[in-house]
Parts: sequence; structure tokens; C-alpha cells
Amino acid sequence: MTCFVNILYILLALFVIKQTLIAIFFYSDIRAAQKRDPAAKSFIEVLLLYQGLHALVAYRIGHAFYKMHLFFLARWLSQMARWVTGIEIHPGAKIGKRFFIDHGMGVVVGETAIIGDDVLLYQGVTLGGTGIEQGKRHPTVGNNVVIGTGAKVLGNITIGDNSYIGANAVVIKDVPPNSTVVGVPGRITKQDGKKMDFSLDHIHILDPIMQSIEELQKRIDNLEKK
Ligand SMILES: CC(C)(COP(=O)(O)OP(=O)(O)OC[C@H]1O[C@@H](n2cnc3c(N)ncnc32)[C@H](O)[C@@H]1OP(=O)(O)O)[C@@H](O)C(=O)NCCC(=O)NCCS
Repeated sequence: MTCFVNILYILLALFVIKQTLIAIFFYSDIRAAQKRDPAAKSFIEVLLLYQGLHALVAYRIGHAFYKMHLFFLARWLSQMARWVTGIEIHPGAKIGKRFFIDHGMGVVVGETAIIGDDVLLYQGVTLGGTGIEQGKRHPTVGNNVVIGTGAKVLGNITIGDNSYIGANAVVIKDVPPNSTVVGVPGRITKQDGKKMDFSLDHIHILDPIMQSIEELQKRIDNLEKK
């Protein structure tokens, strides 16, 4: 019985040490989560209960192994994290500071993805390849980007700083900084805080055919109203 209690004490001590180390080394990531998720009530809550943080901790360790060319170990850790959190981040991806995945389940980040600082991903986001590319085949995401739930960002494209990718958008072309992109395929609806007028702007169009159809639809709606 005493032996059993001692084992419990040791396990508890190891758990406390592990959490303290995470709290120290991932302080800014935890604070970022608190800042960006209104539901996060305390530092401890994020530390213990947020699987986005747990996946990030596993990724940072796996990425260190990956850089040491311990590819199998790195991948094993990433798969374990996926099993526990539902979030799959390839250890080869490069991720900046204060990265936060809210809710998490179903997020996939590919091997050659590059993610800047202060990026927020929601559940179901894929930063993937198109399936036909070799080498750098996953997106580069700038600083301070928010990618909404279910969005798919595919191929070796760049999402500019301070951009928003709407929920369930499918983005397959570069997005300039300070843009909001929605829909399938993704189209820019806002740039530098201004709503885009598709009939006038031909520079920032991601899918001109889709936008022409939308413009025609708007005209038909207006005519029908008259
Ligand atoms: C795109 C987004 C960032 C809103 O940006 P915004 O600049 O405030 O956009 P608005 O609300 O002014 O909408 C602009 C247009 O895009 C449309 N739109 C907004 N979000 C959209 C989406 N996800 N998909 C398709 N269209 C969308 C709006 O209906 C509006 O269309 P209209 O101009 O024809 O009326 C937001 O809608 C979004 O998708 N955020 C993701 C948040 C998320 O994933 N939360 C998960 C929490 S668990």
C-alpha cells in the first residue's frame, strides 16, 4: 500500500514538473490563447485543458528532433499528439511565436508549411498540398493571420500579413496582406479595411469568373426588386 502511495506521489510530482516547464517555456503561447479566446478564463485552464497548446508542445519537441534528422522519432511524436488532440502538425513545418489553435480537432499542417507570428487557426483548418506538387508544396502564412473553421489553404501559396480567411473558404491562390477572403474558391471581400467592389477592382481578384457571376447575380437581384 505504501509503495502504491509513493508511486502516486512520484507521478504527481512528475506531472507538476512537466506542467511547470510548459508554463515557463510556453508562457507567451498560453497568454496568446487567453487573449484570443474569450472563453479562456484562466492561465491554468489553458495550460491543462487546451489541446491546441498540447499539440503545439508536441510539435515544438518533434520539430527539434526533425532538425536533428531524427525523422522517425519526430513523426512518431506528431502522430501521438494527433491521436491525443486530433491535431496533426507535421514536425517539418515552421511555426512562429504565439501560435494558437482554438478547439483544434481536425487541424492539419503540412510538412513544408511556414506560419508566422500571432497566427490563429480554428478547428478543421488544413494547410495542405494540392497533391501534384513536389518540394515546397504547402502554404506560407504571414503574421497576425486568422484562418476560420474548416478553411482549406492549399498549395505553395502565400497568405499576406493581417489577413482573415473566412470559415470554410478554399484558398488556392496568393492572398495580399490585410485581406479578407471568403467562399469556394476563395475571393477577396475586403482589403485594407475597405469592402471590395468587384466591378471596379480587377487586380485583387482570386477567381474572376466566380466574381463576374456574383456581379451578374447582384444585377439580376436589383432588377427583380425593381
Ligand atoms: C470572413 C469573416 C472573418 C468576416 O469578415 P468580415 O470582414 O467581418 O466580413 P462581413 O461579415 O462584413 O462579410 C462580408 C461578406 O462576406 C460574407 N461572408 C462572411 N463570412 C463568410 C464565410 N465564412 N463564407 C462565405 N461568405 C462569408 C458575408 O455574408 C458578406 O457578404 P455580402 O457582402 O454579400 O453581404 C468571418 O465571417 C469568418 O468566417 N470568420 C471565421 C471565424 C471562425 O471560424 N470562427 C469559429 C469559432 S468556433
